Amino acid sequence: MTVSVTQEGDIACVTLDNPPVNALGQAQRAGLADAVAQTNAMLGLRAVVLLCAGRSFVAGADIREFGKPPMEPHLPDVLAQIEGARVPWIAAIHGTALGGGLELALACRYRVALRSAKLGLPEVTLGLIPGAGGTVRLPRVIAAADALTMVAGGKPVGAMQAQDMGLVDALADADLLDAALRFGATLADRPDPGPVLARPVLNPDPAAFDRLAAKLAARARGRNSPKEAIAALRRALTLPASDALAAERAAFLRLRDDPQSKALAHVFFAERGAGRLDRLKGISAPAPDRVGVVGGGTMGAGIAAACLLAGRYVTLLEQTPEAAEAAAARVTGILQDSLSRGVIDTGQHAACLNAFTATSNAADLSGVQLAIEAVFEDFDVKRAVLAQLETVTAPDCVLATNTSYLDVTALAATMADPSRLVGLHFFSPAHVMKLLEIVVPDAVSDNALASGAALAKALGKITVFAGVCDGFIANRIMSAYRADCEYMLEEGALPWQIDAAMVDFGFPMGIYQMQDLAGLDIAWAMRKRRAAEGKRPANYVRIPDILCEAGRFGRKAGRGWYDYSSGEPLPDPEVERVILDESTRKGIVRQAFAAEAIMARILSVMQAEGDAILREGIAARAEDIDVVMINAFGFPRWTGGPMYLRDQPPRIASD
Ligand code: 3HC
Ligand code: NAI
Repeated sequence: MTVSVTQEGDIACVTLDNPPVNALGQAQRAGLADAVAQTNAMLGLRAVVLLCAGRSFVAGADIREFGKPPMEPHLPDVLAQIEGARVPWIAAIHGTALGGGLELALACRYRVALRSAKLGLPEVTLGLIPGAGGTVRLPRVIAAADALTMVAGGKPVGAMQAQDMGLVDALADADLLDAALRFGATLADRPDPGPVLARPVLNPDPAAFDRLAAKLAARARGRNSPKEAIAALRRALTLPASDALAAERAAFLRLRDDPQSKALAHVFFAERGAGRLDRLKGISAPAPDRVGVVGGGTMGAGIAAACLLAGRYVTLLEQTPEAAEAAAARVTGILQDSLSRGVIDTGQHAACLNAFTATSNAADLSGVQLAIEAVFEDFDVKRAVLAQLETVTAPDCVLATNTSYLDVTALAATMADPSRLVGLHFFSPAHVMKLLEIVVPDAVSDNALASGAALAKALGKITVFAGVCDGFIANRIMSAYRADCEYMLEEGALPWQIDAAMVDFGFPMGIYQMQDLAGLDIAWAMRKRRAAEGKRPANYVRIPDILCEAGRFGRKAGRGWYDYSSGEPLPDPEVERVILDESTRKGIVRQAFAAEAIMARILSVMQAEGDAILREGIAARAEDIDVVMINAFGFPRWTGGPMYLRDQPPRIASD
């Protein structure tokens, strides 16, 4: 039984139980319809409380049913039955009420929520709009501008904010059922607001609504669903409710067949599947509570902050007391910024500071359960640090390296116990970026891998397992298409043309603006090191070196691939001259590149490198590569990623 009905005095309780997140599939819809019929027939009832078993209220329609033939009863019809029930229904919300889950709660006359609950209409993140009355009921419960933010932005709100908006009628501290029953007992003393659909829309400031709609439409760049969400809200404000409901459903069904929503559903499941590794089936490890970080530069400070923000105790080791102090300042700066931006409150901020120690004494790491090194990208420096960690930490402490390119299997081979070493490759800034590559060297133990995975989960990361190779998945693919973009420069393209093609495709910025932001000097140093080791390819492109030799290190120097003297990235004739000269020097006859041709080249290089990565077993599944490219480099999520995209009918429209 996924829906059961019980009675507590003059209140009936309808409990929905469909683990893990009570998604609404056909069985749940049918169960709810039966529960309406059953409670309508019960005598002497004052109200019905609808609550969910397990960790959450309803997290939405069952996404696994999308793409299959529709099955009755349909959600809008079930919600109409709840709204028209003989006695008022009260939704009792814990965990998350999302999408169809919030629409279900909106069909109830009242909503009582645990303080920790979250409520939202995230359908736009799946390329959809609410399809069961969300856009029509919400602006009858909260102000239209707030409704627009929730529907077109897709971000859930906390229960306390929801109460301020008018979405939640009462908050509960602990016993949700008890709070809902007590709320039910007060109904006779309250004026009945009536069914939500019968209420007028709340649009006190139409001009503010229009301004917000214009802003959200501009932000939707390339994505279809936010624009549809705005249109649906407008209809809800202007049309009779029944017409707005019919139009919303039609738009929802149309979007369900849109390539963007299919692609986004692919990414949804790919992100959840990527964190699974066959060899770890049935093996789990507790998330390490006490974490050591060695090196407190850009990455070490970000990793330490990420661990602190996730409630871990962190000891950070630097080379000298002065360096430890500087690293501590970097970490506390990140924590302060998180406080200022409302990511944490003052209590959590104080707890993070209490849980943090910076030291230059390696012995202080003796009690940690997992230690991550983030020292200079140099094999010998890392080898020495790992040897030190092996002596100061307990034998069951897991050791991790954040190396970007070094051979983790070779590093492990230098250790007394190579099974302790796992790669945890964070992206910068480590406390912000959601992606973490878990690198699997040959000798690593299941326990070390499972501990690394457990820490990643505690940090809220999207994880992808990667085999050992130069650059793992993300940096290897990036190196490949960066190299091909350099060939395109020599063959006839200009940096701003390549960037414009990428932005037009949906990337937040092009590869050259990204390089300017990160700084060109580090990669230059690496190229010089590789050249000294005799590792320079025959068709080497000199353009980036020439720019660095001229001091053009990127945004921080005011000049890189672009000129930043006005504050904005502007195409620079000097860069163009360097590029043209190099084409001439190599005897290449330059040809014009259309934006489509540029993107076709970039995509085919990404896909070819992705295929090589799959062939070599570096990634287990093509969708893991999609997850990496979307979360590491801003590959447009609504296309599904490079590997998914290749298997689709021609290009997904970007507008
Ligand atoms: N349908 C089917 N399965 C779902 C689901 C859904 N709506 N939401 C979550 N799941 C599954 C996940 O795939 C995962 O399955 P797995 O264990 O087999 O991998 C399991 O539930 C647990 O999910 P998470 O790993 O994501 O668990 P978290 O605790 O990290 O997150 C969550 C929970 C916040 C609910 C997150 O899963 C989520 O955001 N879900 C999607 C919510 C959503 O987008 N709802 C709208 C759906 S569209 C809709 O409702 C249309 C309507 O308007 C008609
Ligand atoms: P960084 O130069 O900013 O910081 C390195 C820190 O390590 C310095 O503060 C240095 O004092 C410290 N250090 C060096 N030897 C030490 C030792 N023996 N004991 C204690 N501390 C020591 O370097 P960054 O950028 O933070 O990179 C660190 C590692 O992370 C490298 O392996 C890099 O490849 C990797 N990485 C870097 C990314 C980035 O975007 N910067 C992204 C992902 C990984």
